[in-house]
Amino acid sequence: MGLLSVNGICKSFGGLAAVSDMSFEVSNGQIISIIGPNGAGKTTVFNLLTGFYECDEGSIIFREEEISNLPPYEYVNKKLTRTFQNLKLFPNMTVLENVLIGYQSCITYSRLDAILNTRKKRLGEQKAREKAMEVLQSIDMEQYAMEKCSSLPYGVQKQLEIARAMVSDPQLLLLDEPAAGLNPQETEQLAVFIKGLPAKGYSVLLIEHDMSLVMSISDYIYVMDYGKLIAQGVPEDVQQNEQVIEAYIGRGGFKHVIGS
Ligand SMILES: Nc1ncnc2c1ncn2[C@@H]1O[C@H](COP(=O)(O)OP(=O)(O)OP(=O)(O)O)[C@@H](O)[C@H]1O
Ligand SMILES: [Mg+2]
Repeated sequence: MGLLSVNGICKSFGGLAAVSDMSFEVSNGQIISIIGPNGAGKTTVFNLLTGFYECDEGSIIFREEEISNLPPYEYVNKKLTRTFQNLKLFPNMTVLENVLIGYQSCITYSRLDAILNTRKKRLGEQKAREKAMEVLQSIDMEQYAMEKCSSLPYGVQKQLEIARAMVSDPQLLLLDEPAAGLNPQETEQLAVFIKGLPAKGYSVLLIEHDMSLVMSISDYIYVMDYGKLIAQGVPEDVQQNEQVIEAYIGRGGFKHVIGS
């Protein structure tokens, strides 16, 4: 069943076409990747999907609803959540507190409830903590709940960032280079972690430079270069695609990450 359908989206900055006529699909339960050399327009696609930028053209249909160019506050509770290219955790807060930040958009009590510490506010807080713990348990991280975020190994911090995105109950998780900065062993653990997400009810749209990760977990791959879609297919086909190999080699020495 179609979850996300992106049709011909475009975004220019001044004279630069960062994203140009980009189309792709994500179905329920899939892990779909967007790859491409630096500056290809991948993060801009995420920014368009989540309302950080407005599309110049094109449409974004999510859960059968047009969502392109909604005002940013309307994206709250749209059941798609992202992580960022650079880790954005609060190092001095606990793991639980970091996850709770992801729940902010689900809070239903008012500021007045908070000031007066009403029953509604206390129940709301309890629900938030329960949900955060539930997410941590579902990914075997509950033992870290009270630890300071900065004390965790970097690979676990990356998983925590994804956990924070999971707590608002999204149907689609947008992950922007989750393996950046990880060593091969941590990357392998992350691959297992991401591969397990569809079984937990999350579809995944992944931006990633680590080709071993992309090729091992993706159901389907879209390849961008200079803002455009230059190829698409299952991992085996994309690995063999001449245009893809050329795009990576053209940016200097990426050959080793594709296939061989
Ligand atoms: N806010 C902005 N203002 C001007 N130019 C921008 C802006 N955001 C992105 N760009 C430009 O758009 C192009 C695509 O950038 P984008 O960040 O989407 O690439 P990317 O594929 O995510 O690259 P990387 O793999 O390095 O993260 C780049 O040339 C970038 O400089
Ligand atoms: Mg990027």
